[in-house]
Amino acid sequence: MNLENKIVIITGAGSGIGAATAKLFGHHGAKVIASDINLKNAQNTADAINASGGKASAIKTDVTQFEEVESLIANTVKEYGRLDVMVNNAGIGGKHQLKTADHTHDDWHNVIAVNQTGVFYCMKVAIKQMLVQGGGSMVNVASLAGLKASGNNLSYSASKFAVVGMTKSAALEYGRKNIRINAVCPGFTHSALLDQLLSVSPDMANKLKRFIPMGRFGEADEIAEAICWLASENSKFITGQTLTLDGGTSL
Ligand SMILES: NC(=O)c1ccc[n+]([C@@H]2O[C@H](COP(=O)([O-])OP(=O)(O)OC[C@H]3O[C@@H](n4cnc5c(N)ncnc54)[C@H](O)[C@@H]3O)[C@@H](O)[C@H]2O)c1
Repeated sequence: MNLENKIVIITGAGSGIGAATAKLFGHHGAKVIASDINLKNAQNTADAINASGGKASAIKTDVTQFEEVESLIANTVKEYGRLDVMVNNAGIGGKHQLKTADHTHDDWHNVIAVNQTGVFYCMKVAIKQMLVQGGGSMVNVASLAGLKASGNNLSYSASKFAVVGMTKSAALEYGRKNIRINAVCPGFTHSALLDQLLSVSPDMANKLKRFIPMGRFGEADEIAEAICWLASENSKFITGQTLTLDGGTSL
């Protein structure tokens, strides 16, 4: 994969899929801006990349705050002159697993703010910059829950279907501007977010694995491979697509 010297921002890079993705971009020679609402974790990711010979910096950004997203991208452009790749990965799950009639207002507002509005803010500001510089590539982290129904999960499902829709609609708008926009749709993948879901009951892991033909959860670095590939020139005729990484769950 040719990612040498690409200027790459990853949101939610302090943990899980975002951290693995940042490290893989670093491994391929990209200049990584690891951004997260949790600066300490983002800094840990950047430190790990720098320690293994890559180039990375960390910045605190809450994607629900438009001004913070603007300054994340403005700072990147000030420092490096451009933004080649934007990975919109930051995401949360609801605190409660409840059916729609009982879905809490807090879960609704918090999940939509991060997973949907946050991705919109990042897309809006990154695309503006990519238009100025004549192109770029974006990868949104959606979910299998953005393609298929999932119970007790309404705000998450709504937000991830929205990410898939925003990916396709924006790809349609900017194809002629040399901006490619794709999404990955992971199934259950080892991370803090999955741990939260598994904590609901002791037999949750086994219950979920029964739905996965490959019989195991995904690993964050397996999702990272697909994100880097979709971001790179190696996939240069692909735009507006979703790539499902779920061990066959969607089958
Ligand atoms: N793990 C899975 O099974 C799975 C499956 C499908 C999709 N996803 C998606 O993958 C993405 C990454 O999740 P993960 O599983 O690595 O979880 P994670 O909890 O390990 O990582 C999420 C990161 O996002 C950061 N974050 C949360 N709110 C933020 C905000 N407002 N602004 C900036 N950063 C914020 C967190 O601090 C954390 O570092 C999410 O969009 C998630 O919905 C995960």
